[in-house]
Amino acid sequence: MTAPARIGEPSIVAVALADRSYDIVIGRGQLHSLGQRMAALRPGTKAAIVSDETVIKHYLGAAQSALSIAGIQSTCVSVPPGEKSKGFATLERVCEALLDARIERGDLIVALGGGVIGDLAGLAAAIVRRGVDYIQVPTTLLAQVDSSVGGKTAIDTRQGKNLVGAFHQPILVICDTALLDTLPEREFRAGYAEVAKYGLMADAGFFAWLEANWREVFAGGPAREQAIAKSCRMKAVIVGRDERETGERALLNLGHTFGHALEMAAGFDGTLLHGEAVALGVTLAFQFSAARGLVSSREAERVERHFAAVGLPTELAHLPAKVPDPDRLMQLIAQDKKVRHGKLTFILARDLGAAFIAPEVDAAEVRAFLTQKLSKQ
Ligand SMILES: NC(=O)c1ccc[n+]([C@@H]2O[C@H](COP(=O)([O-])OP(=O)(O)OC[C@H]3O[C@@H](n4cnc5c(N)ncnc54)[C@H](O)[C@@H]3O)[C@@H](O)[C@H]2O)c1
Ligand SMILES: [Zn+2]
Repeated sequence: MTAPARIGEPSIVAVALADRSYDIVIGRGQLHSLGQRMAALRPGTKAAIVSDETVIKHYLGAAQSALSIAGIQSTCVSVPPGEKSKGFATLERVCEALLDARIERGDLIVALGGGVIGDLAGLAAAIVRRGVDYIQVPTTLLAQVDSSVGGKTAIDTRQGKNLVGAFHQPILVICDTALLDTLPEREFRAGYAEVAKYGLMADAGFFAWLEANWREVFAGGPAREQAIAKSCRMKAVIVGRDERETGERALLNLGHTFGHALEMAAGFDGTLLHGEAVALGVTLAFQFSAARGLVSSREAERVERHFAAVGLPTELAHLPAKVPDPDRLMQLIAQDKKVRHGKLTFILARDLGAAFIAPEVDAAEVRAFLTQKLSKQ
């Protein structure tokens, strides 16, 4: 694990995408540097902050003063908190508010919030005046380690999640780890599932470090910062190699095929958070890999033990939402993933830290596995 060069200095992770490269700045108190960093990147521009009402209450003042100390004028566009804001109606309102605020092509949009705001404001930035640059200031753990990095933006439609969107890379990401101090513990824990996912996907040493240090990560301080920087570094490397998910970027979906099916079954009403579904999905992916003889059951148990220790769900029976029967689950999986000739692409694991893309998994085998899991409840 690499720590910042000196206490108080941020960790900087570079996302290398030729002329669209950018930095992720990670550290306590870094929101303060927003204006100076923005002025250095785009001197003389103005900004529109897009945020949700909850985040505005906590952090709009700090964001605005960080801009004004650098002489940057800003306006704010506010949306209600929650996944429902990731839709056409709110997107329309945000785009028109940006135009009303006379945001020109050379100006900047600041997405201040969790993944909902990052995805919504990022998409608005991609389409307003055919594309305006934007900065991500993620305020949830999930957004700091995942959604703010990599340029995927989207809204949901009645057909499903993230179905209308664009690839639009930010020009800067500022992860102020102090902002997570006000995040409800359940949200922090859910975001942590994505942190553990990085280790389980491609770095067994990082997973072992998390097993030993997760309490410190939850407590804040240097371990939290280290875990966020490591996660960002791993995502940055993958995005740098496969920006548009034609290959390796799909590994980031470890646990998400099962996870999305469970999330859809729960109905996005807050009973099951994305990260909670991912924890169970990753556990199931390792158990399924063990059932196929790819990893030992000892390793699958280690995954389950860690998520359980942290307080994340690891059994279908733990879910607060009603768990559908295997047929319904398979229907939901088929909705999320293309099933071709009874085969689906899955992210499976050969070891802790060794996930791989398995393109030809038999849907019948997945169904049998789920039937067996559900019968054990
Ligand atoms: N673009 C991507 O690559 C990508 C990746 C993963 C997830 N996502 C998307 O991210 C979204 C989920 O993001 P999320 O989990 O951050 O949810 P979110 O944005 O809804 O935030 C969760 C809740 O926490 C509140 N909140 C945010 N920051 C806070 C803070 N610092 N203090 C107190 N409260 C705070 C919000 O108001 C909200 O109620 C989903 O829509 C998902 O599709 C996108
Ligand atoms: Zn996820």
